[in-house]
Amino acid sequence: MASRRALFGLLSAVLLAGACADFRRGPSPDASADGASDEALVDDPVFENDVYPILQARCWVCHSQGGPGEYSAFLMTGDAKADRARIVNLVSPNFPEGSLLLLRATGYDHLGGTVITVDSPEYGTIQGWIASLPAATCP
Ligand code: HEC
Repeated sequence: MASRRALFGLLSAVLLAGACADFRRGPSPDASADGASDEALVDDPVFENDVYPILQARCWVCHSQGGPGEYSAFLMTGDAKADRARIVNLVSPNFPEGSLLLLRATGYDHLGGTVITVDSPEYGTIQGWIASLPAATCP
């Protein structure tokens, strides 16, 4: 298992390093006339109904304001749409298992330790959601 995790980590590092992330930001980041942030707010029922509750139940204690993971790239605010816009930067639809979100959640190089296991239903739900996202396209 350790070597499998190490492999995932390595592959994910390669993927992240080489990722070209068109899908991450969504269309027209500067198009909002209301001065909203440049992160695309997307309707994603699977994320909002299935994935976000898992993250709130298992990760919120550390990854919300005032928690030890507050200053990491994974910060939840309680607003699923806004949080999704940041969380998609932590996933790799081309290789869901190599996503930083899942690697850290399963304890790989994570101060929070192993929060969910690879064989848990939670892992399957998050993995399925990531796999359903549009893959990054490279120019
Ligand atoms: C007990 C506290 C704790 C819990 C619970 C926890 N984490 Fe973390 N997590 C941390 C801390 C502290 C860091 C920052 C240091 C590090 O990278 O390990 C972190 C970092 C991360 C990062 C890296 C973000 C970056 O900036 O690169 C990700 C992704 C992550 N956690 C995902 C999760 C997920 C997903 C869950 C829930 C399934 C979770 N964590 C639950 C404490 C926690």
